[in-house]
Amino acid sequence: MNTEQIIAEMRKLIQILAKHSHAYYVMDNPTISDAEYDQLYHQLKHMEQQYPDLIQTDSPTQKVGGEALSKFSSVTHAVPMLSLGNIFNYDELKAFDQRIQERLPQQKIQYDIELKLDGLAISLWYEKGVLIRGVTRGDGETGEDITQNVKTIRNLPLSLRTANVTVPDFLEVRGEVLMPKSGFEKLNRVAEQNGEKTFANPRNAAAGSLRQLDPKIAASRPLAFYAYGVAQCVPHHGLASMHESLHWLTQLGFEIAERQWVVDSITEVQQCYEQIIKERHNLSVEIDGMVIKVDDLQQQKQLGFLSREPRWATAYKFPAQAALTTVENIEWQVGRTGTLTPVARLHPVFVGGVTVSNVTLHNIGEIHRLDVRIGDRVSVYRTGDVIPKVEKVWPEFRPEHAAIVQLPENCPVCDSPVVMPEGEALARCSGGLFCSAQRIEAIRHFVARKALDIEGLGDRWVESLLNLQLLRNVADIYQLHQHRETLLTIEKMGEKSVQNLLQAIEQSKDTQLHRFIYALGIRGVGETTAKMLANTFQTLDALMQADLEQLKKTPDVGDITAEWIYDFFHAQHNLEVIERLLQAGITWPAPQAPTRQPLNGESWVVTGTLASMGRDDATQKLQALGARVSGSVSSKTKCVVAGEKAGSKLEKAEKLGVSVMNEQEFLSMLEQYQ
Ligand code: IVH
Repeated sequence: MNTEQIIAEMRKLIQILAKHSHAYYVMDNPTISDAEYDQLYHQLKHMEQQYPDLIQTDSPTQKVGGEALSKFSSVTHAVPMLSLGNIFNYDELKAFDQRIQERLPQQKIQYDIELKLDGLAISLWYEKGVLIRGVTRGDGETGEDITQNVKTIRNLPLSLRTANVTVPDFLEVRGEVLMPKSGFEKLNRVAEQNGEKTFANPRNAAAGSLRQLDPKIAASRPLAFYAYGVAQCVPHHGLASMHESLHWLTQLGFEIAERQWVVDSITEVQQCYEQIIKERHNLSVEIDGMVIKVDDLQQQKQLGFLSREPRWATAYKFPAQAALTTVENIEWQVGRTGTLTPVARLHPVFVGGVTVSNVTLHNIGEIHRLDVRIGDRVSVYRTGDVIPKVEKVWPEFRPEHAAIVQLPENCPVCDSPVVMPEGEALARCSGGLFCSAQRIEAIRHFVARKALDIEGLGDRWVESLLNLQLLRNVADIYQLHQHRETLLTIEKMGEKSVQNLLQAIEQSKDTQLHRFIYALGIRGVGETTAKMLANTFQTLDALMQADLEQLKKTPDVGDITAEWIYDFFHAQHNLEVIERLLQAGITWPAPQAPTRQPLNGESWVVTGTLASMGRDDATQKLQALGARVSGSVSSKTKCVVAGEKAGSKLEKAEKLGVSVMNEQEFLSMLEQYQ
């Protein structure tokens, strides 16, 4: 056989196997026996062993996983992966519907109702029908490339079927990866028999499996993918509704969730909701509510987005779940910036799918408000992905000796005095870097995934390194390679783990400006603010030189945070640490040419109806130029794009003296930047 014939033979086998695997995994309707499938599979495998250079990327043999990775690379989403607003009851449902009616007067509205699958959102790219990339949602803007792992998901098509529909040249599908309940139970049963760690719930199991660097482990986990949307399709599929697009996806070989409805009114939406709550336990997967989407895609376009959420969809969540337990102790934790946070240690209790044994009480004010004491019986609530909280204390169950908790006078870690300035809710340790808790937390923060992402530097290492006095501050991390011999003396840290650690540290030097800013642990500067600062100032130097006024003008930075940032960059010890970090070789890509992101860091608002495009298109175009598009006008807004029938936002812009552009001006600006 010549090369062409070999490829043709391989492709034929792949096609047959894909067809039967779809029938088996997606349709639950096997068309050939397992033995027959195995035979064909081995025939293909045999050919591939003979001609490894000709292995096709969509071959089912590739589903068992390739080489292990040392780290996932990050990928910027072409279309951001947004989140959904939440509603919890019928009144909120009515309000959701009303907001839509107001924006689409006189139009008939149908809702597409889907299950809200409780797994992890991912995005899949298909080029000419072949899966080329799988990416996690990440922070919605940037995710991790998990192509190797998604290829192992059993019901996920590696290449799209062509039976009834034309396969688009390019397709980006969004959906949820999860572990069906049955697979989860089996996985845990086996883990238990082998004395291994079990997973608390299917969601954690799915997340843990997807983030395996070794795809062979991912391949051994029973994961499933359910599609729920099309993010990009070239040429466009031309369908008019959400439910048709889901059906179209099934024709291409995707599986969608096991229930889905199209209804005409919110009373029917409510009926579906009540029905799902009843049926929830019979479903094969975990859900935490349902998703209501305006069915008509044109209407979706008209409705557009409000900051990070679509106006055309919302999640109707199941009621929070509550459980009773006992507060065994209340301890004070010292955070990275010295804040003292009370944490209730609970008798472990299973609520909303996870075991909860600690819950934050936030601050001393909250302890007083709840009047919670050690020994009290309390109700713990948890909804979906929200952190659990103590909702109620039951005084009728209070034991006589239940101890009242006071704010400690001295730091539980370093014994320095605790201070709580007038009018502030949070108490702080005054020990600064003298307090080892603050040092540990600063280091933990620095190495975290969203910061410099040094995976190997876990708590065990940090504690040993602090004891050996090899880590006084974060800059010392980059001197550790000089202490290789000492590292090897640490108990249970062999040659291999030292090597991995030093390698991870070396790799972390290649980073991004916003990660570096976030990693510094400046008070009030979370991930989003760090991104805004990086966008606005473009270079670390410019940020460090910024005066208070410039900082206050940055979107997302309030007056107080501006002061914290300013103080941070004017404290000598911080400048020394930064200098040492840069000397160690930490770098990030130079800022993009300003012509490509001319609106970097600016806050824009789009309002009214534009004749030439939907508001979400306008939003995307602005975002591509670097702008942040917000739903409301404030004095920080750079410019408002006002279409026909612009209302209160236009008025507000005029009142605040914010500049306004009409559609014509907006279009010529876009043209100019093209
Ligand atoms: S549509 C613009 N449909 O919910 C956002 N999301 O809070 C479109 N999710 O990250 C999302 N089931 O992981 C959509 N049937 C469904 C869903 C669903 C679960 C998750 C998804 C997303 C989160 C949004």
